[in-house]
Amino acid sequence: MGKSPGNKNWITTDCPPPPLRWETGPIEYHGQAKTKNMKTILITGGAGFIGSHVVRRFVKKYPEYKIVNFDNLTYAGNLANLQDVETEPNYEFVKADITAGELMKTLFRKYRFDGVIHLAAESHVDRSIANPMDFIFTNIIGTVNLLNAAKLIWDEMEGKRFYHISTDEVYGSLGDTGFFFEDTAYDPRSPYSASKASSDHLVRAYHHTYRLPVVISNCSNNYGPFQFPEKLIPLTIHNIRNNKLIPVYGKGENIRDWLYVEDHAAAIDLIFHHAKIGETYNIGGHNEWKNIDLIRLLCKVMDKKLKRPEGTSENLITFVKDRAGHDLRYAINSEKIQNDLGWKPSLQFEEGLEKTVSWYLANEEWMKNVTSGDYQKYYDIQYNKR
Ligand code: NAD
Ligand code: TYD
Repeated sequence: MGKSPGNKNWITTDCPPPPLRWETGPIEYHGQAKTKNMKTILITGGAGFIGSHVVRRFVKKYPEYKIVNFDNLTYAGNLANLQDVETEPNYEFVKADITAGELMKTLFRKYRFDGVIHLAAESHVDRSIANPMDFIFTNIIGTVNLLNAAKLIWDEMEGKRFYHISTDEVYGSLGDTGFFFEDTAYDPRSPYSASKASSDHLVRAYHHTYRLPVVISNCSNNYGPFQFPEKLIPLTIHNIRNNKLIPVYGKGENIRDWLYVEDHAAAIDLIFHHAKIGETYNIGGHNEWKNIDLIRLLCKVMDKKLKRPEGTSENLITFVKDRAGHDLRYAINSEKIQNDLGWKPSLQFEEGLEKTVSWYLANEEWMKNVTSGDYQKYYDIQYNKR
């Protein structure tokens, strides 16, 4: 383990792959010592889409916290998402795999975290259908490794908090009516949602069995800057920009409830600081869109931004073979967080979408970097033989 020459806040654990993925031997540590009276908060998955917004918010808003980001930089993790905070004195990056149980314990002993916000996950449903095991390792075993490490160092639970970030997909699929509430029975239907549901159950089990001070939130679909272009909105923006076909699964009738990512980060901030231990909160935009309607709106926004004649982008829409087990509709009832914590989404969807499109068009270099290399292979497998 050592520091990257380029950045004083960057630590690599450089562990050889363990015989069992969730166990590694002892490691050496050269990180900075904790400053007295400073709260040290672990954010896992901080180089990903939502995690990077949470890291940015916490680093900037809470100079009295030391924010430590554990991320093993999978295809979805990108340190370019954090360029504007990477040299801040209250931020540290550790390249670490949460599936390595002994490593997690060693790092928790060294940092003595006061709180954990756990976002690291395999997050894409299509990849979970193609390769479920990565989801089992990271989302289930990785989460249990973090729970065990927290349990190990938190003799005194007072003032501590383990916040697990989850998804509305654990509740399954809705018909034309109804909403997901916090007490809706779990009914996950994809390997992704089943792995997230398992991790939610384990987090609650550690609360009930070991009194670990946990909170959980389940959020609807996020969109905004820095989202990897395997997800619907950035993939559509990227394809329109490059005059490529827009793949719409099935008939495009599936419905998702969309929330701007910074509104999710604001909810996470509130829940982390103010939620009662053991509680669950649903977070959603109250903003349901049929995929095909959303794509048509995106086409209009893109035509305008790219100064193309209206209707140009819509010609790229192509209906392709549906996703296996495709959930029809997700819709969140978020009254609990609105009433208890005073949270509500700050942006109208049209405004958020416009901001998002502008960001992607202004950051073509970012997009170029994340779509070079393995992305093209992924795209060919996922779409070209569909
Ligand atoms: P993402 O795929 O963009 O980022 C995940 C991050 O986790 C990446 O930086 C990746 O490198 C890291 N990671 C993956 N495996 C790891 C491992 N074994 N060890 C350490 N780091 C690892 O995901 P996202 O969209 O930002 O989602 C973040 C969290 O929010 C996830 O837990 C997801 O289930 C949840 N969530 C996402 C959405 C959404 O719409 N994107 C909605 C609700 C909940
Ligand atoms: P996605 O962004 O993958 O999120 P999730 O599956 O977690 O909701 O997909 C959002 C919706 O868009 C979902 O109903 C699947 C659909 N979709 C397409 O129609 N085409 C695509 O290329 C992708 C990636 C998704």
